[in-house]
Amino acid sequence: MLKNDSNDEFLSSVLEKRKAEGLYRELNHSYQGIDFFSNDYLGLARSKHLLQKTGEVLEQYSGLINGATGSRLLSGNSKLYEDTENAIAEFHNAESALIFNSGYDANLGFFSCVPAKGDIIFYDELVHASIRDGIRLSHAESFSFLHNNVYALKHKISTVLSTRKDVKRIFISMETIYSMDGDIAPIQEFVDLCKLNNYYLVGDEAHASGVYGEKGEGMISALGLEEYFFARLYTFGKALGVHGAAICGTKVLREYMINFCRPFIYSTALPPHSIAAIKASYEMLPGLNQERENLKKISDLFGELMNEGKYVFSPIKTIIIPGNNEVRRVAEILRQKGFDVRPILSPTVAKGSERLRICVHAFNTEDEVRDLCSEIKNIHRN
Ligand SMILES: Cc1ncc(COP(=O)(O)O)c(C=O)c1O
Repeated sequence: MLKNDSNDEFLSSVLEKRKAEGLYRELNHSYQGIDFFSNDYLGLARSKHLLQKTGEVLEQYSGLINGATGSRLLSGNSKLYEDTENAIAEFHNAESALIFNSGYDANLGFFSCVPAKGDIIFYDELVHASIRDGIRLSHAESFSFLHNNVYALKHKISTVLSTRKDVKRIFISMETIYSMDGDIAPIQEFVDLCKLNNYYLVGDEAHASGVYGEKGEGMISALGLEEYFFARLYTFGKALGVHGAAICGTKVLREYMINFCRPFIYSTALPPHSIAAIKASYEMLPGLNQERENLKKISDLFGELMNEGKYVFSPIKTIIIPGNNEVRRVAEILRQKGFDVRPILSPTVAKGSERLRICVHAFNTEDEVRDLCSEIKNIHRN
């Protein structure tokens, strides 16, 4: 048997290498300054009202209040769970919803079990790590395509299909808004392509949930395109201010995932207070028009001040500052000036496209945005 020190020696040498490359990660809990980095777009994570409503929902459902006690297929299911899923399905105009313990679990579970041998998955080159990890576990073949480029996707599909026989199903994986770039997919173009060819379109709405649509239903519902998506992912850890995720689709898809989706089957269900928080957050979403308007106003102001005219309404903004050391330096100066802004380093993003990822929120003020933008311009110039 290996001695512990030799195990540690190996791990330490890998960590040292990581440090030498300037890529070392460490946990931090000293958040200081104005929040321009969290995904709490509408301020629900800090909402006392949501906390209170969560308590009210819990009180409406008697029984366990702490742990779920098991997987949903064993002891972890409840009426609260099912009522919440029905409410989510109705909210997003879907036949059904299935809750997962996180968005990561949902993507991992979906992509590892729904596309099967004989199927092909084409995925946007910038999709989230959870989708890529799910695809790695799938028995389907997979190919990436150029970010947000439906023309490149069509070309890729025809090249691949010209060398394959008996392809069963084709899945297309995209996000409606991208977490590291804040840009928005040409959703209608994806829908047109998939409708014409009977492809299975799968959309991740992690950063659109709660933010877009009249009630915060997301971008797909805002465009009225729900029926063209085979599956849609909504996550609750960002604008909804809580935790967890749901996949919306047909009842058969839900039934299939309950039977074959390993992260769903082999994990303890979310505890009742988490489900109550999700239900309460969904109940609050339609009443958050003022927050959504503020968010849009702040987003527009940021775009105008950084004067590139390229910003559409998106809570995620990026300022490209090539080089891990340089982007870290700029973020550190901003932090010293009172703005909590995080650098995104390579290899999380491609080398040369290191960036500040700035998230704007409904609770940020116009003055805060003005000050932040003028500091960024000052530092950038020097
Ligand atoms: C596009 C996208 N999908 C999925 C996830 C995973 O969601 P969760 O944080 O709930 O695991 C994230 C979170 O960072 C994301 O940005």
